[in-house]
Amino acid sequence: NQYQNILVETRHPGVGKITLNRPRALNALSSSLFQELNHALQNFDNDESTGTIVLTGSEKAFAAGADIKEMKDLTFSKAYNTNFIASWSSTIPNIRKPIIAAVNGYALGGGCELALMADILYCSSSAMFGQPEIKLGIIPGAGGSQRLTAAIGKSRAMELILTGKNFSGTEAAQWGVAARVFDTAEECVQGALKTASKIAEMSQLAVRAAKEAVNKSQETGLREGLDYERKVFHGLFGSKDQKVGMSAFVEKKNPEWSNE
Ligand code: HXC
Repeated sequence: NQYQNILVETRHPGVGKITLNRPRALNALSSSLFQELNHALQNFDNDESTGTIVLTGSEKAFAAGADIKEMKDLTFSKAYNTNFIASWSSTIPNIRKPIIAAVNGYALGGGCELALMADILYCSSSAMFGQPEIKLGIIPGAGGSQRLTAAIGKSRAMELILTGKNFSGTEAAQWGVAARVFDTAEECVQGALKTASKIAEMSQLAVRAAKEAVNKSQETGLREGLDYERKVFHGLFGSKDQKVGMSAFVEKKNPEWSNE
């Protein structure tokens, strides 16, 4: 393992797994941890044998936030001049393979924001999400006020962000933040790996296009989004995998994707 703060492995075929591993600080997202995370994500994104990426932490903490000890003495000028945490949004939104977050334990502040950056979020019922920044005299800085609001609506997001109170994994699932909630941490990680394997077995060309189309809906109006979807849909009739997939259906066979 070339990293100090994360563990990287390929367990299921086609699935890259990244485990945040800074247990003494409950996986607080220091700059060096985030650099390693970005590096590992990019490596998986560039690796042809990887189809999907699972991102998880420990049973106690997905991540308890940005590293408060690192931020404590930061000044406005230093934050501005160094574009503090810009690296958080420079890599993850550009990863083209699906990222599934398996969230157990604390996912607070930047940890909650990191989980919200994933394409699919799974959690255990006891997971503890929240944007407690207000209690530190700051506000969310890595998408919390935007992605959380988009996910759960303004009134709920406002209540959470203004009071800093936590919400549970069960609530995350009820409110649509999480796609699924599991009873235990182990089941959550296994569930994420299983879904990741399933996605990794699809045509990677179609998976990539589907991720782009869904993400487009988060950034654009309906008419433009529908146009975009239809163009990509048309484009896929120029792919080999469209022929592979539809011929296999007609011939009652399993498709053997070419990813072309
Ligand atoms: C640095 C942290 C940390 C953090 C925990 N630790 N969270 N260090 N940054 N965000 C460290 C503690 O200092 C402690 O180290 C060790 O991890 C264990 O934590 P405890 O507090 O002793 O554990 P516990 O009593 O179980 O409480 C767990 C907790 C609490 C409720 C999660 O740690 C907590 O409230 N953490 C801060 C959560 C938070 O405010 N997050 C938002 C950060 S701001 P020592 O050395 O004392 O043993 C943010 C801004 C994002 O994320 C903006 C964009 C980047």
